[in-house]
Amino acid sequence: MKLTIFSVCSLILLQSFVSPFGIQSIINFISGSKDILFGVVQNAGSFLPTPSEIFGNTKNLIAGLPFEYVSSSINSVCSTLMSSNSVISKITPEVDSMYFQLMTACSKYSIPLLEPEGLLKLKAFNVTKKTVILVTGWRTTVSNSQTIEELSKAYNCRGDVNFLALDAASYVDTLFSWAALNTAEIGEHMGENLVRLAKLVPLENIHLIGHSLGAHICGVAGRTFNKLTSKLIPRITALDPAKPCFNEGESLSGLMRGDAEFIDVIHTNAGVLGKKDATGDVDFYPDGMVSLPTGCLSVVCAHDRAWMYYVETVYPGNEYNFMAKRCTSMKRLRRNKCGDEAEPMGYAATSNLKGTYILEVKGKSPFGMNGNETLEDQHVWCGTCLYAGIV
Ligand SMILES: *[C@@H]1O[C@H](CO)[C@@H](O)[C@H](O)[C@H]1NC(C)=O
Ligand SMILES: *[C@@H]1O[C@H](CO)[C@@H](O)[C@H](O)[C@H]1NC(C)=O
Repeated sequence: MKLTIFSVCSLILLQSFVSPFGIQSIINFISGSKDILFGVVQNAGSFLPTPSEIFGNTKNLIAGLPFEYVSSSINSVCSTLMSSNSVISKITPEVDSMYFQLMTACSKYSIPLLEPEGLLKLKAFNVTKKTVILVTGWRTTVSNSQTIEELSKAYNCRGDVNFLALDAASYVDTLFSWAALNTAEIGEHMGENLVRLAKLVPLENIHLIGHSLGAHICGVAGRTFNKLTSKLIPRITALDPAKPCFNEGESLSGLMRGDAEFIDVIHTNAGVLGKKDATGDVDFYPDGMVSLPTGCLSVVCAHDRAWMYYVETVYPGNEYNFMAKRCTSMKRLRRNKCGDEAEPMGYAATSNLKGTYILEVKGKSPFGMNGNETLEDQHVWCGTCLYAGIV
């Protein structure tokens, strides 16, 4: 009953904001979600709209608010589905066809997830460097290749890490729902293979970075690694960890404190595509706990900002572009009522940091308040093949 009233409100709100065409699948979803909750719909899993149906058509949506309702509806339906296994037809990710991709400035090398030993045979892989593994999320909410390309370019500009990407999007995106079950399974596979990787490279050199659903995959991977070895991955960086379907205390709680020695989180679409609640050891909220940070008019833009901010901090000289203070709101920050110590968000986050941190950001790149445009120009080519070995 509660959901019915709430659905009607959402519908009215939605219709006043978006054209009825792009939003049809959402309307169908909300009007049918009552039936799902009462178990009337058979095969309810396939009834959940896909991320592309929900977000692909609504890039021009101006306000984040109605989406908080949609997101909450998806969340409650998803929880119901998760707790009643009967309606879920699970699609098993094929671990044999999953790859890590080692990305240098000039080349890409695919290594089967099941055979991390293959990395050692590559000249481009240097065991004494740190190894960063990026896991991405919905292909439709982010241009995945862009996330991978940009972060890889930034790390290749630094030149001191092996940069690997696990592109899980084809497994989390093609299926019926919000892919929560697949994230658990992919994360377990990844965790098992991190055990093998940690025999090849020093454990302290491994850093996992996950965007969106990828953050939860990293969490499960870290937990699996811990279960198998009693050791912890040193750091997981979660970039706007996905909200829908991941609720504390349920079967799929996703990334949790304790999945790594240190978990730093950047929230940029709080309460819609991204989680609002603090999830890591330290949680950074650019612009406070808002769903649309400065410069964004859509949830897709907001969800992407998390990785864009992080990428900015990876370039040499930018490590302290985003300085945050321990705080509870933007209002308090503006009134100078927060902690005195300013701490860097992103690449240089201090590994013993705890709590909630707030900071101001700019609407355009460089996004950090301390961003330097001259430096930004110098970074355009850094990390590309053309400049490899020169810069
Ligand atoms: C491997 O990395 C280390 C540390 O960054 C560096 O000193 C060394 O020259 C690298 N080896 C090769 C073959 O590039
Ligand atoms: C910005 O970066 C350039 C190039 O490194 C440097 O010369 C300049 O001093 C920096 N400006 C500020 C305000 O830090």
